[in-house]
Amino acid sequence: MVLDSSFESITLRQPDDWHLHLRDGAVLAAVVGMTSRVFRRAIVMPNLSPPIKSVDAARTYRQRILDVVPKGDAFSPLMTAYLTDDLSPDELELGQREGVFTAAKLYPANSTTNSTEGVTDIRAIDSVLETMESIGLPLLVHGEVADPDVDIFDREAVFIDRYLIPLLNRFPELRVVLEHITTEQAVQFVESSLSPLAATITPHHLQINRNAMFAGGLRSDFYCLPVAKRERHRIALRRAATSGKPCFFLGTDSAPHVRGAKQSTCGCAGIFNAPCAIESYAEVFEEEGALQRLEAFASEFGPSFYGLPLNEKKITLKRNDCVVPSLIEVQNTDKCFEHILPYHSGETLRWSLCEDV
Ligand code: NCD
Ligand code: ZN
Repeated sequence: MVLDSSFESITLRQPDDWHLHLRDGAVLAAVVGMTSRVFRRAIVMPNLSPPIKSVDAARTYRQRILDVVPKGDAFSPLMTAYLTDDLSPDELELGQREGVFTAAKLYPANSTTNSTEGVTDIRAIDSVLETMESIGLPLLVHGEVADPDVDIFDREAVFIDRYLIPLLNRFPELRVVLEHITTEQAVQFVESSLSPLAATITPHHLQINRNAMFAGGLRSDFYCLPVAKRERHRIALRRAATSGKPCFFLGTDSAPHVRGAKQSTCGCAGIFNAPCAIESYAEVFEEEGALQRLEAFASEFGPSFYGLPLNEKKITLKRNDCVVPSLIEVQNTDKCFEHILPYHSGETLRWSLCEDV
């Protein structure tokens, strides 16, 4: 990585996004280019409606993504399988053998957006986890209990104690990513674990705490799951992301929802940060005096965990103001327009991607 002496530009190996929601249809077409302008690969989450549960479904979804990647962008979607109570281990094995599945995602049933078909009893899928451990297919975990009796701000910490620790004990060789961590308990657990365990960290959990959802009124645009926590947790996440520890790497959890779905009596969880993800991470690393560690977090630790090659191409970020679009337009099949409000909508950020490298 090259950081110029006056800190005016950073050239780094092209990054990957290890946690991304692309959706399908008109939304997919509207958002994919915002990821492919920066990232070479992305782990694509399978929580469509219906979810991606078979090799065939993942293969055709991958093709639909590739069909709408803007010309000139080299972008490889890495597909994931959605675990259910009855997904067969053979399907995962087949998907891995055929180069379709890079990982499988565990959503505790009813824990987040489109998770109703998720796993109702984690102990009941041990045969699937055993296969994944033996074939080396990583398990990606939405680490929150769905138990309504547990306070929403405690659901990640409770998940670690109640389910993750026993799971890692049962499958000591299973490669596990605890996705989008939000608490100091998760940071401490991941960094001290002896298992092949890593965690992704989003830009928004590095930048906002739970006050953002209630600043001057109810702000559904800052509502995502796991929900942002107290300031103490945000500080722990910033320390983890900028620590240079290989167990923490980039995963945006960019999760687009049209405005009508966010702003309703039961608004959807998800923050759409693809238009400004790398720029937001750069701000955080700069504020923490850790720009020299951005490349490892964004471009090296993820591929090493997944056993994939590092990207060859470089990107350059320059210290130039960059204005985040206020709204992203989505054109539906009936030619109606809907809008997605991006994270940092209309704000000016300090770093911008230099397009001509
Ligand atoms: C995600 C989505 O919208 O699909 N929402 C979110 O708040 N992060 C699902 C998820 O990753 O939990
Ligand atoms: Zn997600």
